[in-house]
Amino acid sequence: MITRNELIKKYIDFFKSKHHKHIPSSSLIPENDPTVLFTTAGMHPLVPYLLGQKHPLGSRLVSVQKCIRTGDIDEVGDEVHHTFFEMLGNWSLGDYFKEEAISYSFEFLTNKKWLAIPKEKLAVTCFEGDKDSSKDIDSEKIWLSLGIPKERIAFLPKEDNWWGPAGNSGPCGPDTEMFYWKSNSKKPPKKFDPKDENWVEIWNDVFMEYNKDKSEKYISLSQKNVDTGMGVERTLTILNGLEDNYLTECFLPIIKEIEKISGKKYKGNEKEIRIIADHLRAAVFILGDEKSISPSNIGQGYVLRRIIRRAIRYGKQLGIKENFTVKVAKTIIPIYSDYDEIHRNHKFICEQLELEENKFSETLEKGMKKFSEIAVDKIVSGKEAFLLFQSFGFPIEFTQELADENGIEVDLDEYNIEFKKHQDLSRSTSAGVFKSGLADESETTKKLHTATHLLNEALRKILGNEIAQKGSNITPERLRFDFNFPRKLTPEEIKKVEDLINEQIKLSLPVIREEMPLDNALSSGAQSEFGNKYPEVVSVYTIGSQKNKGWFSKEICTGPHVNNTSDIGKFKIIKEESVAAGIRRIKGIVE
Ligand code: SER
Repeated sequence: MITRNELIKKYIDFFKSKHHKHIPSSSLIPENDPTVLFTTAGMHPLVPYLLGQKHPLGSRLVSVQKCIRTGDIDEVGDEVHHTFFEMLGNWSLGDYFKEEAISYSFEFLTNKKWLAIPKEKLAVTCFEGDKDSSKDIDSEKIWLSLGIPKERIAFLPKEDNWWGPAGNSGPCGPDTEMFYWKSNSKKPPKKFDPKDENWVEIWNDVFMEYNKDKSEKYISLSQKNVDTGMGVERTLTILNGLEDNYLTECFLPIIKEIEKISGKKYKGNEKEIRIIADHLRAAVFILGDEKSISPSNIGQGYVLRRIIRRAIRYGKQLGIKENFTVKVAKTIIPIYSDYDEIHRNHKFICEQLELEENKFSETLEKGMKKFSEIAVDKIVSGKEAFLLFQSFGFPIEFTQELADENGIEVDLDEYNIEFKKHQDLSRSTSAGVFKSGLADESETTKKLHTATHLLNEALRKILGNEIAQKGSNITPERLRFDFNFPRKLTPEEIKKVEDLINEQIKLSLPVIREEMPLDNALSSGAQSEFGNKYPEVVSVYTIGSQKNKGWFSKEICTGPHVNNTSDIGKFKIIKEESVAAGIRRIKGIVE
């Protein structure tokens, strides 16, 4: 039996013994990345470093990254799918490559001191080669030299043995995947068949040596990187001889609580109970994240709303009459004693769940009645789907799910037209945006990012020193910045903020990046985001001259930024609004 804590500790200790530095998990909400809503893998926060920027802690890193993958929400309900998971990963940023990466993986999996898996229970896959990259015989050679026999090595195409966020540009490359024979009753056959379900993937070593550009060309990167990923829940399931991820300690207390509240047994109600457990666990991590997110009709808030409401619906299906989400959340939080943020935000998590549950319970029953009336016609028109969304709070995916269960259609095209008519959204909530992807490091994004730093400081200078960043998001069209302030800004204040920023742009101030220990960064007056976890060495961006403390802004940040404020153009605030009690939001553009 291996526990979650033991697995994580072993992983970190092993890679520390190989001179890796442990970096804390980044937020679930990617910073300055317009193409994804959530961090879906350990690589997201590391993209600038995979592309060549120097990491303050060096070229060997190890991390446990909290991740959300929303692409699989509809699959949740079986033994293996969940939206939230923790990913163990080791990183070489232009340091070691295939030889060491594979040897480390092999040692960690098989050595008695670490996971002690018998070599006979392992098999691997390698990339078979295509027009973009040749067959990975290097990895094969290394596996052979470590004692993995030829019959246990399979070569597969890009769909299986290549990693890089699907359909998007960014760092990517071939990978080699390790499989574990999970059956205790049956011996593994000599020849490895990746289709045999007794072989389960346990780890993935990606050799990131390409950057896929916007025209789908694979350009060799200036440095060769390694990105590996091992899912905590899955690995615990496998190593403990279980058949169901939901029976690991990451879920079991949640399942027991749902059994208690509903009076129903897990056995026979697996699907409903798993969905509730998974969705509420993900909701706890989103609500408890460093960047405060609450349920809403856009972006991450929409996904959050969708999963909470889906959990509530399945709760009702199980026969739960009372509010239950807070009770379940209270069993989730103690499982993760190592995530300070969800403990610090305990009250917020419970308040938001209660609020959302009250709001949705009021309309769920009426909405279901309305749906039955509509369903008689065997089609849900776009207008009706929009009515279910607007008046009864049914997210479109929810209506789609109900329609599927009843064997009827939803006119999604018409729904999208209705939706767009009613919302002024720069990012639609349609399924497309939930795909994973990578930072768009276009020039505009950089300009907006540097403008965000100017805005952060300008707000402090105009409104007062107590102003602090509560969230930031950049798309190629605009910046969005959340901060604490108790009331609406006056038109004069908005003008003053804009003027101060445009003044700094006209002054052509240099934007300088430096690396320093976290303590020095904080004592030098660099802004940090409250609740964010920083590594012991950080990069700091200063706008303005260092001399005589003549700088305008100083922030701990990973970049990227323009080199000089004169590159920004003209800054304009296009919207100022409230997002939550005491939190204001500004949207701005550069022209
Ligand atoms: N990025 C790869 C994955 O998610 C390895 O970490 O599998």
